[in-house]
Amino acid sequence: MAIRARILGAAAGGGLPQWNCGCGNCNAARRGEIPAQTQSSVAVSVNGSDWAILNASPDIRAQMACTPELHPVGLRESPLKAVLLTNGDIDHVAGLLTLREQQPFDLFATREIHDVLSGNPIFSALKADLVRRRTVALGQGFDLLPGLRATLFAVPGKVPLYLEGETVQTDLEGEQTVGVHLHAEGRDVFYIPGCAAMRPDLAARVRGADLVMFDGTLWRDDEMIAEGLGTKTGQRMGHMSMSGPDGSIAAFAELGVARKVFVHMNNTNPVLRPGSEQRAEAEARGWTIGEDGMEIET
Ligand code: MLT
Ligand code: MN
Ligand code: ZN
Repeated sequence: MAIRARILGAAAGGGLPQWNCGCGNCNAARRGEIPAQTQSSVAVSVNGSDWAILNASPDIRAQMACTPELHPVGLRESPLKAVLLTNGDIDHVAGLLTLREQQPFDLFATREIHDVLSGNPIFSALKADLVRRRTVALGQGFDLLPGLRATLFAVPGKVPLYLEGETVQTDLEGEQTVGVHLHAEGRDVFYIPGCAAMRPDLAARVRGADLVMFDGTLWRDDEMIAEGLGTKTGQRMGHMSMSGPDGSIAAFAELGVARKVFVHMNNTNPVLRPGSEQRAEAEARGWTIGEDGMEIET
């Protein structure tokens, strides 16, 4: 059985368009000139009837509404059996609040990410007897769904923005930012929506994979500054860029990954514009620019 991965939301936090952003991409999306994209989430399945969601975005309600595979199959019976979190960022956890309607599912995350949720009482809206909070140790394989094994691993990143202190380490490797390795029937799929840098252990891990969905937040590290939209670089936000010698396109060039798909793209990223030279360059280097509703089967 193949692993099916359906991109529910290809954009980073804020989405495209972002409510308060008047950048060229956001305005073009408002005018319908380029496709709008919702916030970061991927649904996966092996049997087509049981589904897990990798990250629960604030747009989850609309994402599920336009995905027939995720529609109820009974009076109060959802194909959604599990949710897995890769960090505690708002774009990845806020959708949990939408999933509060007396529906059982497994909620998988590391201890540190679960601690972020339990530190915030609003998440107790997810009743403990229905939503089973499963703590997963790094490197410890588990059944995300029947027939779909998953393993979490640390990738360089940082704590969520709302938990940042005076000083922030942006390439921390621990339980706060993880990647997901999915395996079924000899297939290897990786989902890494946030990653501050490529490291030798990560390169070795993804080498030869069937599919990698990877952090595509920015094209250039100073993209948001250059657009006059803020003071933060991609590095400061805990994201490596697509372009440049330290970028993801260069990092994956020799890794022999069969399908490389960018996800979690910030609304400023020029690859979100079909026909842009940056998109053409990424595609020429073997990348697919993820978009809402795209399904990849491996
Ligand atoms: C990120 O990916 O950097 C975060 O989602 C930013 C945010 O929380 O807005
Ligand atoms: Mn994010
Ligand atoms: Zn914008």
